Amino acid sequence: MIEHLYSYDEIDSTNELTKRMKDILKNGDIVWALKQTSGHGKGDRIWYSPEGGLWFSIFFRPATFRDPNVYTKMMAVAVIRVLRKFKIDGIGIKWPNDIYHEKEKVGGILTEIIHHGDKREIVVGVGINVNNDLPEDVSNATSLKKITGKEFDLSHLLRRIHSEALVLHNFVTKGQRNVITNLWRNSIVLKKGMKIKLLYPSGVQTGTVINVFSDSLVVERNGIKERVKPSEIEFL
Ligand code: BTN
Repeated sequence: MIEHLYSYDEIDSTNELTKRMKDILKNGDIVWALKQTSGHGKGDRIWYSPEGGLWFSIFFRPATFRDPNVYTKMMAVAVIRVLRKFKIDGIGIKWPNDIYHEKEKVGGILTEIIHHGDKREIVVGVGINVNNDLPEDVSNATSLKKITGKEFDLSHLLRRIHSEALVLHNFVTKGQRNVITNLWRNSIVLKKGMKIKLLYPSGVQTGTVINVFSDSLVVERNGIKERVKPSEIEFL
């Protein structure tokens, strides 16, 4: 299968354009922009997307629609595998699906469902800080250039991540989603027994990781076990 690459100098958001192009896109097609004017992240947060970063989306048309979380995991694993092949140490998934270098965020993934008649299609958007500047008001973000001192070829990085994602996608189409889940679990930097910050409305507390699930984390604090959401934790 030959996937198409639609590339642009500047658009609003690769996820939004992918949704608008759904009638013409084929499974595995890529929409790439050098700059996004309305890049968005999880929870509708603004995703700062200047030139120099890697901002793209991949379109999938599943034969049978099931839990789309596997696409996010698949893409997180694909990014991690490629960055590790580039010999960038300290790269891992901050649960559930952020790309981190040690305690700083390098990239994120935003999976959205496209309602297309009675069908459901999927857009997986990936944002990676590569050679770009970082927003001044964000303290725990970094870029590949900052980590390594080198500039990266965006087109090469994109193609490597895309082909890694399609290799992993074969497991999804063959009904072997557990392979993706296991790879994802092994790339997560949060491990059982690790101490983390718990961000409660009443203030920050410390807890210990007891178990890691796809959508929640079980932590122990003062002898009491509880479930927390991704937005409620930070590295210590
Ligand atoms: C996150 O909040 O961590 C997810 C960020 C995802 C950003 C990417 S950049 C390409 C694609 N287009 C968007 O508007 N968002 C995603």
